[in-house]
Amino acid sequence: MDLAIIVVLVGLAGVTGSPTVTIRPEAAPADRPAHTNTVLQMTKKTVFGQQETVLIAKEAVEDVMATGELNPSHYPAQRAAKVIQHYLNTRYGSPYRLVFMRKVHSGHAEDVAGPGRKYRLEISVQEFLRNITEKCSAEVLFPRGEKPGSPEVQASCEELRNINIKAQEEALYQQYKRNQSLLSAQYLPDSHGHIDPDMEPFWHLGIVAASFVMLKESTENTLYNVAQVANVTQLESENDQLKFDYIVLLHEMVSQEILHWKLLFTWSPSEGVKVLHMEQLPRCHCEKPPNTN
Ligand SMILES: *[C@@H]1O[C@H](CO)[C@@H](O)[C@H](O)[C@H]1NC(C)=O
Ligand SMILES: *[C@@H]1O[C@H](CO)[C@@H](O)[C@H](O)[C@H]1NC(C)=O
Ligand SMILES: *[C@@H]1O[C@H](CO)[C@@H](O)[C@H](O)[C@H]1NC(C)=O
Repeated sequence: MDLAIIVVLVGLAGVTGSPTVTIRPEAAPADRPAHTNTVLQMTKKTVFGQQETVLIAKEAVEDVMATGELNPSHYPAQRAAKVIQHYLNTRYGSPYRLVFMRKVHSGHAEDVAGPGRKYRLEISVQEFLRNITEKCSAEVLFPRGEKPGSPEVQASCEELRNINIKAQEEALYQQYKRNQSLLSAQYLPDSHGHIDPDMEPFWHLGIVAASFVMLKESTENTLYNVAQVANVTQLESENDQLKFDYIVLLHEMVSQEILHWKLLFTWSPSEGVKVLHMEQLPRCHCEKPPNTN
């Protein structure tokens, strides 16, 4: 028995009153009707600085995966599209370039030999810092089996990659390469959702580094977001890369768990982010991340 969950993004900040939402259970094959005991839960979250009201419907259903044409606003398409976001951030992400999945236009899923399930999606992604939106086609393959590996993604979003951020990256790099003291910072953003402007690039860098974890850990049944960077420690550079030790808090929306990951990575304008080590820290009853009630 799988717990399938539908998330409907209701609206951005500024939405007043009670949002009207229609929840439709995911299509289930006629011979295996989905159960209908649905638990609704409202949560307010800050995603990339914008408040979104998220309505979560937990539904006990049989082990059913949507196949064929997908409803773009339903969970299966949204989850697969989120994996594309993580993938694009591992490819193009930078302290000055973050990719955010904006909209799923269409989606299709099928079982493939291998075995696995392949999703083909048309999505719009946004470069978050500049409000540039691009429509891309992408494929996500979720391997299946005893020890399923990470999803494999193919996506072409050339416009985002071509945004010129060289000057900003170089300035940041020089500033932190030359400084005698190493950076140390905690809680990006803090419990009021605030980030010191000087620390914004390091929050973005945390999202990019965390994207490597979120891509690796994603399955058809997960939906990861970065909740907070808990700790940033700059380490002595080796060669010409800046080196960082981060602790990031990931919010897995399906299980509603907050996961702590320790990440050791390097960054430079020419090499981008390279993750040297990633390790999930033991679950603890730590404080909830900010902006999640
Ligand atoms: C982003 O761009 C879209 C159209 O390109 C525009 O409608 C919207 O207002 C812009 N948002 C911001 C925050 O600038
Ligand atoms: C060097 O680092 C210190 C401590 O982190 C900071 O106060 C200072 O502003 C930095 N200098 C430059 C030029 O960034
Ligand atoms: C941040 O991480 C560094 C390196 O792991 C550690 O030495 C430091 O104590 C941590 N700081 C806080 C406030 O947890």
